[in-house]
Amino acid sequence: MRVLMWVVVAVIALAGCGSSSDGSPLAEGKRVYADLCSVCHGSTGDGGVGPALDGVAVTWPSCQDQIAWIRLGSEGWKAEVGDTYGATGKPVNGGMPAQMGNLLDSEIAAVAAFERVNYGGIEKSIALADCGVAGTTSQD
Ligand code: HEC
Repeated sequence: MRVLMWVVVAVIALAGCGSSSDGSPLAEGKRVYADLCSVCHGSTGDGGVGPALDGVAVTWPSCQDQIAWIRLGSEGWKAEVGDTYGATGKPVNGGMPAQMGNLLDSEIAAVAAFERVNYGGIEKSIALADCGVAGTTSQD
């Protein structure tokens, strides 16, 4: 009986560790997405005013470029980068609000990872590492 108790305690402790290092950036990304992005990109990433996000990893092979886009928004991107965005050279038609100064960098990275995993079909650990939110407790 006593051994069984310890096993139960150990399993609960391990489950807690797993969710705090792996789950929390995506949970944070989900919260940010629901609050600030779903209004234009759809509650399931299926699009609306903004494009559907099923092609997000094709548009942005690197998460760091996707993060730059989210920070700058359409206007900032046009001013700093150019008239097209992403690997597929999509025209910047406007309408995507800049999140720099509105969200923390860690929140932007988290929401980028959330989009890649949930809509772009990228494997979780790969997306978290690419977006720089894997196993870290703070980002800069
Ligand atoms: C007011 C509406 C609006 C909101 C809010 C919004 N977006 Fe967008 N988003 C757009 C539009 C419109 C585009 C296309 C921009 C263009 O053509 O200049 C876009 C494009 C994008 C793209 C590129 C997708 C692709 O494959 O073409 C990503 C990624 C993105 N948004 C992420 C986000 C995230 C993350 C948030 C929340 C923090 C967000 N957006 C909030 C309207 C919005």
